[in-house]
Amino acid sequence: MAPAATDVRAMFDRIAGRYDTANRVMSVGLDVLWRRRAMRCLLDGLEPSPWVLDLGAGTLGGAVEIMRQRPDAHVVAADFARTMLAAGRRKPGAVAVALHAADVHRLPYRDGAFAAAFSGFCVRNLRDLALALAELRRVVRPGGRLAVLEFFRPLRPRPFWDGLWTTRMLPLLGWATSGDRAAYRYLPESIQGFVTRAEFEVQLRAVGFAEVRGQNFFPGGIASLVEAR
Ligand SMILES: C[S@@+](CC[C@H](N)C(=O)[O-])C[C@H]1O[C@@H](n2cnc3c(N)ncnc32)[C@H](O)[C@@H]1O
Repeated sequence: MAPAATDVRAMFDRIAGRYDTANRVMSVGLDVLWRRRAMRCLLDGLEPSPWVLDLGAGTLGGAVEIMRQRPDAHVVAADFARTMLAAGRRKPGAVAVALHAADVHRLPYRDGAFAAAFSGFCVRNLRDLALALAELRRVVRPGGRLAVLEFFRPLRPRPFWDGLWTTRMLPLLGWATSGDRAAYRYLPESIQGFVTRAEFEVQLRAVGFAEVRGQNFFPGGIASLVEAR
């Protein structure tokens, strides 16, 4: 069960200044490669000058990667934690990204506004996943694309990753790099309380995405990418 939205927002605002460092340390730099690969899948063959949404954009790791791969894109980054967005503002390429303080459950965009949407490590934190996915379906035009990068609850517990790495090592590394113990105790809890990748794919079909497919990223399916159209 996700904590109240205000708690999630406050937690990310609190850790914004150290969020990127904690990510780099905890994933040994792999999170950058995961976003890069997800974006290649999302953007490959997309029309010229597409409108692309980064949902739960945080410190703009995804948004600046979109700009890097597709400098012609119009990139909109939405997140309800303003301090996260502000922390990302200093990144190269971020100046061209439109920043919107917005809640995923009620997006301030017209129907079909975007050719594509990306969301990295956000959907696990949502209060009402079904509502947010319906909102996402609404703002991505019919036939448009979605790529979601996330830590899903594993189908079967993996002794090393789930018993040792995620539940013991990550909270310690996150605490050491960010100074915030609660935020990084929340990380394994949010994964264990979330849906599996297969359950998530069913929810995407339920809101109207016709083609849905997922893949696990190295190492050991820690992070997964789900693509939909
Ligand atoms: C783990 S961070 C991921 C940030 C970024 N996408 C990345 O790949 O590093 C999750 C982000 O989702 C945002 N978020 C969570 N729930 C949200 C909601 N209901 N509306 C908008 N943003 C939300 C948080 O504020 C946070 O910045």
